[in-house]
Amino acid sequence: MSLPEAPATDRPAAVAFRNVTKIYGVGTPREYVAISDVSFTIPDVADHGEISSFLGPSGCGKSTVLRLVAGLAPQHPPTSGSVTVLGEQIRGPAADRGMVFQDYTSFDNRTVLDNVAFGLECRGVGRPEREAEARDWIAKVGLDPTRDATKYPHELSGGMRQRVAIARTLVLRPRIILMDEPFGALDPATRLDMQDLLVALWREVQATVLFVTHSVEEAVYLGDRLFLMGTTPGRIVEEVRLPAASAPAREAQSQPWFHDQVQRLHTRIEEIEAAALPSSSRAPS
Ligand SMILES: Nc1ncnc2c1ncn2[C@@H]1O[C@H](COP(=O)(O)OP(=O)(O)OP(=O)(O)O)[C@@H](O)[C@H]1O
Ligand SMILES: [Mg+2]
Repeated sequence: MSLPEAPATDRPAAVAFRNVTKIYGVGTPREYVAISDVSFTIPDVADHGEISSFLGPSGCGKSTVLRLVAGLAPQHPPTSGSVTVLGEQIRGPAADRGMVFQDYTSFDNRTVLDNVAFGLECRGVGRPEREAEARDWIAKVGLDPTRDATKYPHELSGGMRQRVAIARTLVLRPRIILMDEPFGALDPATRLDMQDLLVALWREVQATVLFVTHSVEEAVYLGDRLFLMGTTPGRIVEEVRLPAASAPAREAQSQPWFHDQVQRLHTRIEEIEAAALPSSSRAPS
């Protein structure tokens, strides 16, 4: 299995963390070090973009990392260190970064069409133009631009709602797409369909994707690069380069290299979890 090396480039990194520490509740009795001294670089690959997966046990700081990139409080600003996007220090949320969460974050009182068009409306795009764009994206995420467009979120399945959430984000063409367990609430078959959809859309928009997941399979399939995180404090324990997702999810995930990588990472995560347990509750070796 050979991996293409990224060409040398002097473009600023898509995302760079330099010795980032985030302590919640500084100076209070509840002070907690969520991530400590985290450094990583995700290159800005010209006309392509990469998908980076973030994997690790619950509480290791995956959402903290993602929300620092999004510039969302209280994660932003970091307690120390620097977070840059395309060479610029993060000052808060901005249109160059779009976020998709696990829980379906559409407006209940807006139709699918109005939900997808919302960001364009905020930008002052006129109704005919924004509705045409929104219908385009509704079709791209595999929904019916006529029939589904007039539905309200409560009339949709979980998978359909997540398609709306993706369309809402991508219609704004962000350079960086932040996804926090976007498929975590979906059944396994829908999840594989959504993975295929994400790869297809990502090829079209050529953005840099940061993808948080609890699923080792999903992280290995989607990731060009995988950051394995450890706990107490949250930190990056390993960076793995992976082949790009070139085959459909069901096909790729039955290949031997895929199984080997997944098995290895499961073992690593078990080791990380065991090391985080208080010594009194560890199994005798
Ligand atoms: N706003 C907050 N205030 C205080 N502590 C927080 C806050 N947000 C997160 N934490 C703590 O920081 C640590 C990292 O949280 P984070 O949500 O980043 O983990 P995670 O890896 O995303 O976990 P999960 O996989 O369960 O979603 C946890 O111990 C959590 O309790
Ligand atoms: Mg989380």
